[in-house]
Amino acid sequence: MPSPIAHVVGARPNFMKAAPVVRACSDLGLNQQLIHTGQHYDAALSTVFFDQLDLPEPDVYLEVGSGSHGRQTAAAMVALEEQFELLRPAACVVYGDINSTVAAALVASKMRIPIAHVEAGLRSFDRSMPEEVNRVLTDAVSDLLLITSPEAYWNLGREGVESEKVKFVGNTMIDTLKRGLDYLDAHPVDPPVDVDSRFALVTLHRPANVDDPRRLKEILHALSGLAAEIQCVFPVHPRGRAAIEASGGDEISGLQLIDPQGYLEFLTLQKASALVITDSGGIQEEAAVLGVPCLTVRPNTERPITISMGTNQLVEPADLIDAARSALTMEHSPSVPPLWDGSAGTRAGAALAAWLTTM
Ligand code: UD1
Repeated sequence: MPSPIAHVVGARPNFMKAAPVVRACSDLGLNQQLIHTGQHYDAALSTVFFDQLDLPEPDVYLEVGSGSHGRQTAAAMVALEEQFELLRPAACVVYGDINSTVAAALVASKMRIPIAHVEAGLRSFDRSMPEEVNRVLTDAVSDLLLITSPEAYWNLGREGVESEKVKFVGNTMIDTLKRGLDYLDAHPVDPPVDVDSRFALVTLHRPANVDDPRRLKEILHALSGLAAEIQCVFPVHPRGRAAIEASGGDEISGLQLIDPQGYLEFLTLQKASALVITDSGGIQEEAAVLGVPCLTVRPNTERPITISMGTNQLVEPADLIDAARSALTMEHSPSVPPLWDGSAGTRAGAALAAWLTTM
């Protein structure tokens, strides 16, 4: 048996990007191992995704858990180095831009294990975002860079990445979305939300929004104003829960705060919503494909294709209500960027298999 390839995942958005690639590699008969760092450990942020996305149980679960960026990344590096020593993988596949992604890439690079990065080349050009630092560093040490949209070629070229290392395979997360649409009925939202009524769906978890009390207050104030005009359903990520609940009173009056949802439950909400208000990267992409207008509460996005081709718009808290009103009156239709077609995982698997033969 040849040495396995090691897929490393750690947090919620990794799981939907990895599932189609793991499936494609399995169809190709590649020997593989799935390593979960345990960056996300709550059932609502982790286990439910493995069940719903048809991801195999991780072969290895590392209990890295939460912590400051330094602590969390370092804990993941120590644990991954031990695993790579035992496993001696032929290659390591990393996903997205979370701390577990950069931890795995740095360890693999020092151990001379070839690295493939799925969702390479996205750039917000904002180094105050922890994920931007993770993206730049991961891409700098990767040997195969699988990109989701054409502008990533340019971003990577600008940083000196040779074009032969870059392969445009499309967006594997959209494979998961397309597959999920067939299974929504079996997964009602809990607590119940009337998905036949008109509502806006809200998610916020970025440190820049939820860890800064002044900005958080401004955003919640705008949302509670909007809630007087349209029902606002807000599944709350654990990162912001305490701060949001502490705001209390007027700032959250009228908002329907609910627990984090499973993948299929959240997709049900997203598909049925009249408007999405978010600071997530992945949700900007999903909203574009679903044709739901999306307001992104950030000064920038690493996913500009969702603006140029899709339904997305950047907003500041002060403009949120006006932007929401105008988005709610416009007609929107799904717009699907190139190769966001449900077959990106198959192309990623084929690219990985071809790459492995060159080693
Ligand atoms: C991480 C990613 C972010 C991604 C997000 C999706 C980084 C730098 N950030 O952010 O890019 O968009 O996941 O959710 O990797 N917590 C729990 N239970 C858990 C995990 C976390 O309660 O299972 C709480 C803890 O208080 C923790 C906080 O959430 O300190 C933040 O978790 P962390 O993994 O550091 O970052 P996220 O904000 O989840």
